[in-house]
Amino acid sequence: MQKRFEQEDWKKNQQISLDFNHMMVEFIQEEGLKEEDIQRNLDKIAAASRAMVDKRTAGQMDWRDLPYGQEEVVKEITEYVDQMKDQIDAFVVLGIGGSALGPMAVQQAINHPYYNELSKEKRNGYPKLYVVDNIDPERLPALFDILDIKKTLFNVITKSGSTSETMSQFMIIKDKLEKEIGVEAKNHIVCTTDKENGNLIKIAREENYKTFIIPSGVGGRFSELTPVGLLPAAFCGIDIEEMLAGAAWMDHLCKEEDIFKNPGHMYGLLHYLAMEKGKNISVMMPYADSLKYISDWYAQLWAESLGKKYDLDGNEVYVGQTPVKALGATDQHSQVQLYAEGPFDKVIVFIGVDQYRDTIHIPKLYEDIPSLGFLGGTTHNQLIQTEQMATEYALMKAKKMNMTITLPSVNEFTIGQLLYLFEVATGFTGELMNINAFDQPGVEEGKDATYALFGRPGYEEKKAELDARPKKQDKYRI
Ligand code: PA5
Repeated sequence: MQKRFEQEDWKKNQQISLDFNHMMVEFIQEEGLKEEDIQRNLDKIAAASRAMVDKRTAGQMDWRDLPYGQEEVVKEITEYVDQMKDQIDAFVVLGIGGSALGPMAVQQAINHPYYNELSKEKRNGYPKLYVVDNIDPERLPALFDILDIKKTLFNVITKSGSTSETMSQFMIIKDKLEKEIGVEAKNHIVCTTDKENGNLIKIAREENYKTFIIPSGVGGRFSELTPVGLLPAAFCGIDIEEMLAGAAWMDHLCKEEDIFKNPGHMYGLLHYLAMEKGKNISVMMPYADSLKYISDWYAQLWAESLGKKYDLDGNEVYVGQTPVKALGATDQHSQVQLYAEGPFDKVIVFIGVDQYRDTIHIPKLYEDIPSLGFLGGTTHNQLIQTEQMATEYALMKAKKMNMTITLPSVNEFTIGQLLYLFEVATGFTGELMNINAFDQPGVEEGKDATYALFGRPGYEEKKAELDARPKKQDKYRI
């Protein structure tokens, strides 16, 4: 039987859209962009597009090819899920950053909002999902309070295979499992890591853990469409083939040479031009609870990729745009005051949904109170969509740059598109900015200082540097 993502009509009906009217001068006057701003950058746009193609061809953007050729990976994941799902009640991801944010975002987007509270039957036999993406000492003990670890599978995810947070979690879990269930422990751990780098792959091979591989050329924050995201998604019943098909559809759209037809490149260009006009903040505001964690995933992608000190020619540039997460309609009552009347330093990206997966009717009550009765007989669907439109209008009136991405509905295909759209946009913006969007040297200093303070061998010099740091003074403490 043909799957729905194999039908051309369905793909077209489910295509997400980008509306950037409110970025333009016709709507927000002097704060907006002119079509000439785009025209005068055509050479730069062409060069950035070429660089995207060249880097992809040269194997420097392996994440671009993830929508394709993963049939074997999908098969192995599906078989493993089928083999394990009846034996476990909970699937726990141990990971951080790019090894945790994608699994959380996709699960929240696709599954029931109270997925873990549903009975196993209502979860179609799939286990509960937990993502432990921090080392707060209260977190794991609290999880142990609610888990039966004999019925739990722990997925250790780390590309580098050496991240302290994740590897220390792994050590705690392995020790606990071995103490409680002895030799069976190894069947409760599955590793997702690089095929040769880092400690985890060596341990996994020596101790015989089931292992899935993250392709070498794919960095953490671009890895959601590898087993990093595919395995946890499949373990909670998400159709990973459909997600990959959505990404492939967006890849097809993002190959368009004409920037006015290419959503990924246009999103990147608009943000690049906005940065030139001093908009240093990128707000993401979905009007759907299901998309709340997409903003968290995007925040890492945008911040870590584009926040850079040096450009590709070695000049100090100190560039980037600070991501801010908001949720509609909730944050209309929190942050929108600032967006409307505060500084002209933001681009606000709304994410809307045409067809929510449920409808809730507001009963016709209090018709004698006109200021309340007008709500009756409508739906929350209409109310939230109207509020989104009203906020877009209010920000346009306040001359604040904003644009809207619309999903026909939230499903695996549209989420695959959305993730891939933001990845392409990030890569393309990096090219326009002439920076390396795929490294994160700014994260290293803090990591090295931790190693030095924790006594990791090889960090003695760093420890001496830390010991010589200026001492804090009492006069600056209260
Ligand atoms: O994007 C990145 O590379 C980082 O944010 C990583 O995802 C994060 O540091 C976790 O790294 P790892 O997967 O190696 O444990």
